Amino acid sequence: MKEVKIESTLYVFDSLEEVPEDVKQLMDKASEIRQKAYAPYSKFSVGTALLLDNGEVITGSNQENASYPSGLCAERTAIYYKGAQYPDSKILKMVIIAGSQVNPTTTPIPPCGACRQAIAEYEVTQDAPIEIYFMGETGKVVKSNSLSNLLPLMFDKSVL
Ligand code: THU
Repeated sequence: MKEVKIESTLYVFDSLEEVPEDVKQLMDKASEIRQKAYAPYSKFSVGTALLLDNGEVITGSNQENASYPSGLCAERTAIYYKGAQYPDSKILKMVIIAGSQVNPTTTPIPPCGACRQAIAEYEVTQDAPIEIYFMGETGKVVKSNSLSNLLPLMFDKSVL
């Protein structure tokens, strides 16, 4: 038996003021759409924005349901819209802002496991990394140069 260590590199900005201007603009759009999240049950609102290589920006928020599992995260709401509307475009960047409607959220909120798997499908298919930035309502912003850093031991179509 041998031990295998898996390493991921992430970058942490102290605040939104430190990120590149185009990313800040995307985060502003994500923040705006987050205000329209439909999250009456969890009271946890998430907004996301995707920048495509055709210049389009796709935004999305989480959409909950009285039948809880029928709801969908912001990231998948946006990425499936992209898949439906712009199947041939590549995703260059994805930003996520998330937080409780009840308590201030100051720590960066990463995408959930199911969303990472969904994003992975697009990154693998487009054969180019997606830059991902995520944050709480305020505070630090975390950057990953690729979805693969957030999903080690990824299951993808190469094994099918
Ligand atoms: N949520 C997202 O939108 N994205 C994530 O990556 C994690 C969770 C949503 C789902 C649900 O509406 C609420 O946040 C609480 O889990």
